[in-house]
Amino acid sequence: MEIFKEIAPLRQRLSKLRSQDKTIGFVPTMGALHAGHISLVERANKENDITVVSIFVNPTQFNNKEDLEKYPRDPDADFALLEKNSCDIVFAPSVEEMYPEPDTRVFSLGSVAEVMEGKYRPGHFNGVCQVVSKLLSIVEPDHAYFGQKDYQQIAVVKAMVRKYMPNFEGEIVSCPIKRESDGLALSSRNVHLNPEQRKSALLISKTLFAAKEKADSGATQKQIRDFIKQNIATDANLCLEYVEIADKDTLQPIAGEYPKNAVICITVYDGKTRLIDNILL
Ligand code: PAJ
Repeated sequence: MEIFKEIAPLRQRLSKLRSQDKTIGFVPTMGALHAGHISLVERANKENDITVVSIFVNPTQFNNKEDLEKYPRDPDADFALLEKNSCDIVFAPSVEEMYPEPDTRVFSLGSVAEVMEGKYRPGHFNGVCQVVSKLLSIVEPDHAYFGQKDYQQIAVVKAMVRKYMPNFEGEIVSCPIKRESDGLALSSRNVHLNPEQRKSALLISKTLFAAKEKADSGATQKQIRDFIKQNIATDANLCLEYVEIADKDTLQPIAGEYPKNAVICITVYDGKTRLIDNILL
């Protein structure tokens, strides 16, 4: 496994591989890697000759300074895990390498980036677009892999690529959520949970699974939403930030009483830790 910290030598290496007709799969991450990230690496390995993983805690997507400072970092453990899982190339740049000068670009993507996370984390998706557009231009992958754990992020990235990177020839690939055996969606933030909070967190996925069953047996949007709110309120550690039932492609509210082609997205504070999860209906 090769590790690059700078753009120019990475680009040189990738251009050599491309000239040998190797296809390139790319998994952008912020490190603190877990089995959810590794599921994307495995998919990239299967569908490409070369797998590139980036590790970069992108400051511009954190709308909260404390959240950025607290974000877990363990590059050596990340490198070891990637090596074990047949990653070929790691790109782990510094902030100065990625942002030699401040990135003042504003991505205007309309409603897909304005609802849910867009509303509760102002500036977050603009930062994601800044870094993902840079990373895609640096790596120029054939396929770039993103997890449905961050469901809205995929919709935003696809919209950004369509509008702002018309010459990008790769494909944005969407991958299923990897969960613990008890259902909790894997997340780098789960390390912040103490044992009691970890127990409480379980109610989030449990509630989503039960909500899906209700939807399958004909519940209305209002019934589903009320059920989720009531369920989450039963645990004193949990505080619901939002629950939305949205069109699975546009992420806009769904007209009519019943959810159709929908995704339920939920954000819950478990103590001070903000957890997100979602389920497709
Ligand atoms: P990060 O949170 O490190 O996630 C990197 C990728 O792993 C994302 O596509 C995310 O959706 C995926 N992922 C995380 N947990 C997952 C799980 N349990 N199952 C499946 N996939 C999972 O998302 C980011 O970083 C950043 O915003 C980034 C795209 C790298 C831009 O900075």
